[in-house]
Amino acid sequence: MQVVEANGARIPLVGLGTWDLRGRVCARMVEAALQLGYRHIDTAAMYGNERAVGEGLRASGVPRDEVFIATKVWQSDLSARDFERSTKASLTNLRLAAVDLLLIHWPNPNIPLAETIGALCKMKREGLARHIGVSNFTLNLIKQAALLATEPLVCHQIECHPFLDQSKVIAASRKHGMAIVAYSPSARGSAKNNAVLARIGKAHGKSAVQVCLRWLVQQDIVVIPRTSKPERLAENFAIFDFELSAANMKQIAALANPEGRVVDWSGSPKWD
Ligand SMILES: NC(=O)c1ccc[n+]([C@@H]2O[C@H](COP(=O)([O-])OP(=O)(O)OC[C@H]3O[C@@H](n4cnc5c(N)ncnc54)[C@H](OP(=O)(O)O)[C@@H]3O)[C@@H](O)[C@H]2O)c1
Repeated sequence: MQVVEANGARIPLVGLGTWDLRGRVCARMVEAALQLGYRHIDTAAMYGNERAVGEGLRASGVPRDEVFIATKVWQSDLSARDFERSTKASLTNLRLAAVDLLLIHWPNPNIPLAETIGALCKMKREGLARHIGVSNFTLNLIKQAALLATEPLVCHQIECHPFLDQSKVIAASRKHGMAIVAYSPSARGSAKNNAVLARIGKAHGKSAVQVCLRWLVQQDIVVIPRTSKPERLAENFAIFDFELSAANMKQIAALANPEGRVVDWSGSPKWD
């Protein structure tokens, strides 16, 4: 498995997203993914599936130290005390001594960022998380977080796919040494219906979704596609045996549009 190196972390380039996967389906998909070669699983306290993720991990038989497990602390738990409680509950549910990556899931304007970043760094210092990072931060918040953090922030998890121009937030994150982890990397499966991706894929014997994921990993962006279908696990993983030309990379980047976002931010506070 190829990795992206960032501020001391080695993050496997493909992971399994688990949002909305629950119970036995979640445990089975995690187990199957790991047996297929995936070495990175993305969960969150808010997904309510950490117990199932832990079960899938143990059922896979893959040694713990070969798997990169990421979880997140939800927006409502960003005070110092709640942050620690949430992190410890995640570890109890996963039945792990530490996660490989702990993220602030979504910023909360009602809690000082300094307090939350302090709590995040404390989790790393105390060994509950091997690495730490952020998710859904604005340009301004990225700058503030980098200034406040006393431990390295290794990644920024953001919505990222060809239909959304994230170039500014990617550049700002990378300026501080953070890797980019793309959530909703197939734009919630809609890449499947895109004619440009399908045409490029045809020339390589690949699906439109594979081209979409390849476009991201070819830019050193980690992808965490989610599927509930075992047969798609293999499809989403088979993206390292072909290469997109510079012309293809450009054509795909041109698919970005102002309506491209698939995760709704409308209910979120407005950050600058
Ligand atoms: N940090 C955050 O705020 C945040 C926000 C959103 C997501 N995430 C994380 O990122 C992960 C991925 O994002 P996502 O779940 O929003 O979107 P996604 O991975 O882009 O898309 C998932 C959808 O695509 C379909 N799909 C998957 N593989 C496919 C394929 N090869 N061909 C056609 N359709 C395919 C799935 O359907 P089937 O199940 O039917 O295959 C599912 O409906 C999440 O699971 C979660 O772990 C984080």
